[in-house]
Amino acid sequence: MKSLKEEILKGTLTEVLPVIPTMDVVVFPHMIVPLLVLDERIINGINQSLNGSKKVLLLAAKKKIDNTQGAIGTKDLYEVGTISSIMRLIKIPEGGIKILVQGISRARVTDIITDENILNAVTEPLEEEMLAQEELLPYIKNIKEVAEKISISNQSFSPDFHIILGKMNDPIKIADFILSHLNLSVDNAQALLESKDQAEFLEGILGQLNKEVEVAETQERIKNRARDSMNKAQKEFYLREQLKAIKQELGEDDVEDLDKMRAKLTELKLEDEVREEIVRQLNRLEKTAPDSVEATVTRNYIETMLALPWNHETPDNLDLQHAMQVLDEDHYGLKQVKERILDFISVRTLKADGYAPILCFAGPPGLGKTSLGASIARALGREVFRVSVGGLKDEAEIRGHRRTYVGSMPGRIIQGIRKAGTKNPIIIIDEIDKIGADFRGDPSAAMLEVLDPQQNKTFYDNYLGVPFDLSRAIFIATANDLGAISEPLRDRMDIIQLSGYTTQEKLNISKQHLVRRALAETGLEGKGILFSDEVLVNLIDGYTREAGVRNLERVIRKLCSKAARALVEKKESLVFMVENLEKHLGPMQIIDYDNSLENQIGITNGLAWTPFGGEMLKVEAILMPGKGKTILTGQLGDVMKESASAALSYAKAHAKDFDIDPTRFTEYDMHIHIPAGAVPKDGPSGGITLLSSILSALTNRPINAKIAMTGEINLRGRIMPIGGVKEKILAAKRNHMETVILPYQNKNDIMDQADIIEGINVMWVEHAKEVLDQVLLPLGA
Ligand SMILES: Nc1ncnc2c1ncn2[C@@H]1O[C@H](COP(=O)(O)OP(=O)(O)OP(=O)(O)O)[C@@H](O)[C@H]1O
Ligand SMILES: [Mg+2]
Repeated sequence: MKSLKEEILKGTLTEVLPVIPTMDVVVFPHMIVPLLVLDERIINGINQSLNGSKKVLLLAAKKKIDNTQGAIGTKDLYEVGTISSIMRLIKIPEGGIKILVQGISRARVTDIITDENILNAVTEPLEEEMLAQEELLPYIKNIKEVAEKISISNQSFSPDFHIILGKMNDPIKIADFILSHLNLSVDNAQALLESKDQAEFLEGILGQLNKEVEVAETQERIKNRARDSMNKAQKEFYLREQLKAIKQELGEDDVEDLDKMRAKLTELKLEDEVREEIVRQLNRLEKTAPDSVEATVTRNYIETMLALPWNHETPDNLDLQHAMQVLDEDHYGLKQVKERILDFISVRTLKADGYAPILCFAGPPGLGKTSLGASIARALGREVFRVSVGGLKDEAEIRGHRRTYVGSMPGRIIQGIRKAGTKNPIIIIDEIDKIGADFRGDPSAAMLEVLDPQQNKTFYDNYLGVPFDLSRAIFIATANDLGAISEPLRDRMDIIQLSGYTTQEKLNISKQHLVRRALAETGLEGKGILFSDEVLVNLIDGYTREAGVRNLERVIRKLCSKAARALVEKKESLVFMVENLEKHLGPMQIIDYDNSLENQIGITNGLAWTPFGGEMLKVEAILMPGKGKTILTGQLGDVMKESASAALSYAKAHAKDFDIDPTRFTEYDMHIHIPAGAVPKDGPSGGITLLSSILSALTNRPINAKIAMTGEINLRGRIMPIGGVKEKILAAKRNHMETVILPYQNKNDIMDQADIIEGINVMWVEHAKEVLDQVLLPLGA
């Protein structure tokens, strides 16, 4: 029953053979393999072959085929297979047969003939080009070498593998031998089977062997590594246990401590770097005697590290209403500052990690700069701490000491953070203008790092030895004198300039805050102690003279303690009146050395700015017989001396306008003095004052004592702007002036606080002449 095709192909090299598909195995020539066959069609094919040539074609299946499913799709088989001869056949009782086959030669399928009963294939042999022995030699040598390597390192090959291999020389046999030992996947094996010649075949085997070596080596490495880490952990555990036992024997039982610290450490969420450092120190502590100095240092360190809020933050209270209420509760006025804080909170509401300015409150003492910081913290619901950097000279105060000596500590910032217990507190850098520097380093450089948002994310404290993130904190600096802050430091901050309070403001502050606070602090709340406005104004003007309210607060407290004493001692309630203030506080403390409001020749009221607020100063000029010399006294700085010469030149140039007898310049000496010599004075703003005194002395015309003034002049008499206008106006008011003369160009300075000029006349002037017309009274007045 031969097909037509078979007939046609007969007599050529091709052969028609029954196909036996093989799963999971590729049979190579020379190989002997047992196969189990269940499929009826295949069994038919085998039977047919047994009757004839006993040859079959073994074709590997491309992927796993479920052989219970009967028919095998021919497209699932590779096209190159091995013609094999059937050596033995056993029928299995349950159905199916078992055969033993041996590969003979490779063949390619050119066609598949699917008869009903038998799966036949038309095959054509893959002729092998035999290479000369010497051409194959290099391959053989390489293969042997690699195989040897494997058999030594890899247990999967039998121990005598390489001994047998060593004795073989026939390339074909060697290849067969190795093939039988390699555990190849079907794809890889098939690829080898399809090699176009012997060289490619041997090369393929070499490649497989190399892969095997690599796998073996990797396996070995992994095994070693696992074993190493295992050993290390076990060893450490074992040693630790021993150490515990020894310590217990010695009565040095700090084990519990250590365990607690370790337990705490596992609870904390930390950066790897931080955790590693703590673990390192814990291990170290374990190995040191608990009573040693070193152990104390290490323990302190670990405790500090464990106590730091590496990841703890408090949520912000972003309720604007609430914030406004808190700010008003704590401080009267200060509108500008409060506005800024509300702006800030609004930004936070829109963007949690938004722009956080570093605020710097600048102004004279007692304005509430420091206490505002605490108030902001209360409004936001943040922790707060204060770092006073005034007079700080040692950089380590900020950056911390290295852990090399006993008593070393973290810097003040980290200490504060530890106490605050959160990483987002408000940090008040107090008195930043008074930060110093000496041989121990420059703390302001360290401060720069703290305040720079780029750098403070990884703030490095020498004590900690690992970075700490300060960027979540809000920094608020305070200063009296902006000029004393280094340029780069000032540049990093948003400056909010606060000016002194007027008497009215002070009255309000004391009524709304100071009195209530003082009564509460002395336990006098609800005991009927009253402070009338009159008394308060008297305290403001008679007992304190300051830009802020610190002394005022002190005086009020003092009165409260007097009241407390009267209540305790005599069971009587004190009533404070203007008349009895002297009795409680002693005589008025503000006694002006020369504050008479009498018009005098050569004496002018000047206004000066100091870090402590505005000041009124008398500028004196007097003529005495001499030779036209000028004497300057009273701690004047260079700029002020130049102002004096400029004023004198202006006077000489305009002598005619003021009817000055020319001999006044040649036969007299001029002495200019500015009292309160302990205070150094400098700056150009005294120009107009000096000129007034000089002209008064030269003309003998008295000066209006109810006018105070400030302003720089140039040689042509133009008046130029000056600084500290608000403070100067306040000083004039404190000194009961009727009029204050100010440069016209400073008019904008008080725009945002127009009420500051309530109760005083202000003359905005552009030329010296306007001033002189006003202050120089007629002869003999
Ligand atoms: N506007 C105000 N309302 C209520 N209290 C105020 C006000 N201004 C200041 N105080 C109170 O005055 C006292 C002094 O304030 P604070 O210590 O904050 O001054 P400061 O500006 O920091 O001064 P310094 O520059 O000297 O450090 C505090 O008790 C503060 O509460
Ligand atoms: Mg302060």
